[in-house]
Formats: sequence, C-alpha cells, structure tokens
Amino acid sequence: MLKVLNVVGARPNFMKVAPIVAAMKRRPASFQPLVVHTGQHYDAAMSDSFFRDLELPQPDTHLGVGSASHAAQTAAVMERFEPVVLYEKPDWVLVVGDVNSTLACALVCVKLGVKVAHVEAGLRSRDRTMPEEINRLLTDQIANLLLTPSEDAGENLRAEGIPPERIRFVGNVMIDSLLQNLERARKSQARTKLGVADADYAVLTLHRPSNVDRADTFARILSALETIAQTLPVIFPVHPRTRKTIAELGFSDRIATIKNLRLIDPLGYLDFLSLYSGARLVLTDSGGIQEETTALGIPCLTLRENTERPITVELGTNVVVGTDTARIVAGASAALNGSAKKTTRQPPLWDGRTSERILDALEDQKTEARASW
Ligand code: UD1
Repeated sequence: MLKVLNVVGARPNFMKVAPIVAAMKRRPASFQPLVVHTGQHYDAAMSDSFFRDLELPQPDTHLGVGSASHAAQTAAVMERFEPVVLYEKPDWVLVVGDVNSTLACALVCVKLGVKVAHVEAGLRSRDRTMPEEINRLLTDQIANLLLTPSEDAGENLRAEGIPPERIRFVGNVMIDSLLQNLERARKSQARTKLGVADADYAVLTLHRPSNVDRADTFARILSALETIAQTLPVIFPVHPRTRKTIAELGFSDRIATIKNLRLIDPLGYLDFLSLYSGARLVLTDSGGIQEETTALGIPCLTLRENTERPITVELGTNVVVGTDTARIVAGASAALNGSAKKTTRQPPLWDGRTSERILDALEDQKTEARASW
C-alpha cells in the first residue's frame, strides 16, 4: 500500500489531481490518497467550485497560505507543508504543473528525503522571466519521478542531463478530466445564460503578469480586441489578478467602450468547458487552455511570444501569435475565415487514461528504496 500526499494549490492544479485521486480510490489495495491544499488560490470561484465540479474530495489538510509575493508565498507553503509531511509520513508526494506550490512542496520533500513525483514534467518555454519556467526547471531537477505529457518534454529532460530511468511518458492528465466531464458540461446553462447558445462567439482569458501587469502590452491586446469584437462577441471571464490590474492601469473606461467584449466573473470547470467547447475561437495566455482546445479541435490563438506546449502547435489547433496587435488580428481572421490550418491530430497518449499510467508508474517504483520512516 502506497500512501500518497497529492498537492493542489492553484486553479490549474485541480483538474490534474482530480482524476489521479479518483484512480487511486479505484485501487484501494494499492493506494491510500490524501489531498493537501496549500491555499494559494482561495476564492470560491478559483477553488471551491472546482472541487465540486471535478468531484475532488475535500482536502485532508488545508495550509491556508493565500496571496503574497513569490518569496513569501513559496516560503509560507514550505513552512506549513513540512510538518504535514513529517506527521503523515507518506511513501510519495505528488505535485502537478508549475505553480509556486509545486516547487515549494517538492523542495520540502527533497530535504526530508521523501519521494516526489512530478506530473506534467519537462515542459519548457525557455523564457526564464516566467515564474512558471523557474518552478518547472527546479522541480524537475529534484523530483524522483518525472511524468511527462508529451515526447518533447522527455527530450527536454534528457537534454538537461536527467537520467532516463527517472522519466516516464504517461500522457496528459488534464485530458482525463476533459473527457470525463464533457457529457456533464453539456448540461451547463452557461451559454444560455450568456445569450450565446446559438451564436458565434470567441472566448478570451488573460492572466500572465507579462500581459496584464504591463500597460503597453495590455494596450496592444486591447487594440486587437477592438477589431475582433466588431466581427463576433468576445466573452472574457476575468481572473482576479487581471480584474485588479485593469483598474490599476486605468483601462476600465476603454474596456467598457468595446462593444461586444463582455467581462464576466471566472467560471467553474464545467461552465468554462461548456463555454469554450462551443466557441469559434479562443484567445488565451493560459498553458492548459492551449491543450484543452487542441483536444477539442477548437482554434486557439496564444497571446504570448512562446509556449512550453509546442505539441499543440505542431499537431493541434494552437497558433502562437504574441502580443502584437496586427498579428493577433491576422490570426483571428485566418481562424474565422477558415484559412488557418485544418488537419490536426491528437497528441499521443492524450487519451483519457493518463491517471492509470501514473499509478502504474508509481507502483513500478515500489521495489525501489522506500522512504526511511
Ligand atoms: C497562479 C500561477 C500561474 C497560474 C495561475 C492560474 C504561480 C507563480 N502562478 O498565477 O502559473 O497560471 O495561478 O490562475 O504560481 N487572487 C485572488 N483570489 C485567488 C487567487 C488570487 O484574488 O483565489 C489574486 C490576488 O490578488 C493575487 C493575484 O490574484 O495577488 C495573483 O495570484 P497568484 O496566486 O499570486 O498568481 P496567479 O496570477 O493567480
């Protein structure tokens, strides 16, 4: 029996951990899963609603760290997570993605000699100004088992000198959640409530500090939206960080005058899935949404200069257009007039069975040295 502490912290973690915990519960003779929530995200709309939608069990432990500077937040997670690990004495700690909680918990474990598995290992944007890139690089250096979503991720790790026996290609666990919830999302009333049930519309998400904390970049994106919204309505669920910077940067009035750009509160998992799965076009700076749109064949424009998920460009529907106004508008036109590339493929192992492969990988490690509790 393997006792596993599964860590969640921020919104993009919940849909990765939910199918893993569910799979562990289906193998009770082999796994005892516990859920630890660091509290990096805490608003009902950023956290609680995801537990409900994804049927993720309530956390066994909540660290309640909340928002702070990167250093203070990372330090608070470390301080509060260490006693939990010492008390629970797990065989494995499982961390996902690239948020501050991911690195903080991995660091605690490596210092205690507790084994860490990193799900979504090996992704690289090669942009070290992104906080997530630092979290990814460092977590992968110290984790014992690196579970990769795509072949390029394994190549990145090997190029960094990580021994191949620490790397396992398992596929994309977010797609497990997506496929499991598509049917339930059809019952969502989100599209009807927004009045777009039978309409063409685009969906926009923005929350990267490099886009929303900088007036010049944000202004270039708004200029593009002024043009795109003349063609079709753009629904914009606004991340709390972005809501704050819109006010701080003085963009509220300008945004209010863009007819057809509709700002709404962040949506839960099922409502958001319902919304973007019906969209003609998605514009985003999120990592996960690049993958989800590829899985569903929805055209996606990534408003960043790079992506750590190149497979969504090579095989999927994603086009990295950056933050230049003309490039965003041209990308949107190509997607809407049908001149964008049409033949797309599902990346290998994005098949809804990644959580089972993650459990197999953990079980295969059983024979290796156990933590010395
Ligand atoms: C974090 C992750 C990012 C991920 C994003 C998804 C890091 C470094 N960043 O960014 O990788 O893509 O989550 O959402 O880990 N806030 C609230 N309520 C909340 C959470 C945040 O109001 O529940 C506000 C606070 O003002 C906070 C700000 O949003 O200061 C930023 O939150 P933070 O967790 O620091 O980073 P995110 O931008 O959410």
